[in-house]
Amino acid sequence: MTAPLVYVLNGPNLNRLGSREPDIYGSQTLENVADLVAREGDLLGLEVDFRQTNDEAELIGWIHEAVDRGADVVLNPAAFTHYSYAVRDACALVTTSGAKLIEIHLSNPATREEFRHTSVIAGVATGTIAGFGSNSYMLALRALAG
Ligand code: DQA
Repeated sequence: MTAPLVYVLNGPNLNRLGSREPDIYGSQTLENVADLVAREGDLLGLEVDFRQTNDEAELIGWIHEAVDRGADVVLNPAAFTHYSYAVRDACALVTTSGAKLIEIHLSNPATREEFRHTSVIAGVATGTIAGFGSNSYMLALRALAG
């Protein structure tokens, strides 16, 4: 049997983890997170494809690719969370196709600046996990595997 495929996608500025506002996002780099995600994916029997981009169009293309491949998606949309209707519409393609999309955040945006309290993604996501640092990624994988 082939392992279920999960795209783990990361939006803008997450390539700067480690040095970016470590008091909020912690000291782990994106590479550290990718390693932890790969290990957790192995343990759970998932095939994980981990990517990051600063480009909205590229992110949307990857979400389309996930739909075409029947993959579930774990998405940290970063700042796109708060205003990108284009990313939201792409996410809706995932969930209306019958696959799952979990919105995740390292921090808990609800406890931060007002503009972060709005997620335009949440309404089309299967669920949201926020505030657990890199564990938000692991919890999302476990939710998909379970
Ligand atoms: C974030 C929260 C967003 O508000 C922010 O723009 C990010 C990271 C998080 O993981 O906590 O870039 O998605």
